[in-house]
Amino acid sequence: MSRKVTILLGSPRRNGNTETLAASFSEGAVSAGYKTSAIRIAGLKIGGCIDCRRCWMSGAHCFLNDDMGDIYAAIDDADVITFASPLYFYSWSTQIKPVWDRLLPYFSANSKINVKGRRAVLISAAGDKDGSCFDGLKKSFELSCNFAKWEIAGEILVHNLHEAGAASKKPECLDMAFQAGKNL
Ligand SMILES: Cc1cc2nc3c(=O)[nH]c(=O)nc-3n(C[C@H](O)[C@H](O)[C@H](O)COP(=O)(O)O)c2cc1C
Repeated sequence: MSRKVTILLGSPRRNGNTETLAASFSEGAVSAGYKTSAIRIAGLKIGGCIDCRRCWMSGAHCFLNDDMGDIYAAIDDADVITFASPLYFYSWSTQIKPVWDRLLPYFSANSKINVKGRRAVLISAAGDKDGSCFDGLKKSFELSCNFAKWEIAGEILVHNLHEAGAASKKPECLDMAFQAGKNL
């Protein structure tokens, strides 16, 4: 397996907190010899899963013709898949949730693309003053990784971040993200 890290950026805010944390994580991964690439989901056209089960039956990627193809290509090729999402109502952002649902083709018995054994990382930022705000998101991530047979390689969760530039004023959080990338 290649040492490639795909980072899915799920915030609509360019240079927002999750993107800032993801950039530090990426620098850490590069310092450890990984190749990293990031995709901003917000600019893409990605529809929701329509439960047609055509992927399920054929084992192919989704039949919907939109920008999800770029994400499939980045995931097929990655050793580490990183989900960077701001916390929206204690869960995934609007932008990244359809990506999760469109991962369904990887998990059919007929799937032509084996992604078992990949590693996954969660990056999230939240405004709440209490870190327990991440409980629901963490549970969703951990159950999804368990279902996918992905090993969890890191959870970078920073609360008390409101305005878009808040993470960049917290060097200890940036360092935590850097170290998580470096220690992949
Ligand atoms: C629609 C929406 C829902 C949000 N829901 C929550 C929430 O449930 N809990 C929380 O702590 N912060 C919540 N926030 C605040 C964001 O998580 C926070 O501002 C975060 O730093 C944004 O990250 P970003 O800069 O990467 O977009 C919400 C923000 C928006 C826009």
